[in-house]
Amino acid sequence: MKVAEAKALSESSPAADGATPVIVSKGLTVGYKLHRERKQLTALRNINLTINRGEFVVLVGPSGCGKTTFINAIAGLVEPWEGTIEVNGRPVTGPGPDRGMVFQDYALMPWRTVESNVRMPFELQNLNLSKEEMNERVRRYIKLVDLSGFEKSYPYELSGGMKQRVGIARALVSEPDILLADEPFAAIDAMTREAMQSELERFVANTGQTVVFITHSIDEAVILGDRVVVISYRPGQIKEVVDVNLPRPRFDYDVKMLPEYGEMRDHIWRLVKDEALQTARGVQ
Ligand SMILES: Nc1ncnc2c1ncn2[C@@H]1O[C@H](COP(=O)(O)OP(=O)(O)OP(=O)(O)O)[C@@H](O)[C@H]1O
Ligand SMILES: [Mg+2]
Repeated sequence: MKVAEAKALSESSPAADGATPVIVSKGLTVGYKLHRERKQLTALRNINLTINRGEFVVLVGPSGCGKTTFINAIAGLVEPWEGTIEVNGRPVTGPGPDRGMVFQDYALMPWRTVESNVRMPFELQNLNLSKEEMNERVRRYIKLVDLSGFEKSYPYELSGGMKQRVGIARALVSEPDILLADEPFAAIDAMTREAMQSELERFVANTGQTVVFITHSIDEAVILGDRVVVISYRPGQIKEVVDVNLPRPRFDYDVKMLPEYGEMRDHIWRLVKDEALQTARGVQ
């Protein structure tokens, strides 16, 4: 479903308050087979979470707690061991054009130029777009991530932050209903990062996209999220879901100056710190 159609549907449906479930995770448990050690590792255990249309949900938690695993389950890149994960009322069986993914490790094709990497979704999915529309979108999203002029560059000619921005443009070019973003700004310098956070907030306010976003920055979580889901040390379980009731657009309101901002930040920081200490101690 296109973003505009999704928006129209949500506006005309009885649940026009934005409470239309888009992603529903019920008792989701996911793990991996460790072939070398001949054992299994449970990465996530019993995740129950409903994400509504147009919501911006941020996942935070210590390294290795299963954040990437969770969005990979939504993307259809890993299968549940137990429980279910549904997108728009249907069990996820694999990737689809309704979900765009920004990968933690960029996952760019080294033999393709910037332009050709961004164009990839059009080759993998038939979106019924004219050649002109595809070209226009590739240009528009490369411009959005401030990479105009680098269209013909190869990934090895780009900095880490630039590669990450190519990954963002590639995820957006198909205008997916759901944006899955795995630490999309981690490699981007502090000033560009703030500009991109503000840009993303404005962008999703216009498109009505549902966003699941991973970060290690508590500030980024509070500035962007409608809800922040704190995940515990492995096997990851939901420790707390924090509602972020701060006005939007957050950058226009300069919400960092509000006392509630500081309180929320401290609260999430304390929750994450406890879990991070366990990671550091290697508690199983
Ligand atoms: N393909 C895989 N095969 C085996 N184990 C895996 C695989 N992918 C992830 N894991 C394991 O699953 C656990 C969760 O990994 P995941 O990448 O989801 O964590 P994360 O919360 O995204 O961490 P980080 O913040 O460091 O990115 C880790 O213990 C990791 O070693
Ligand atoms: Mg990860």
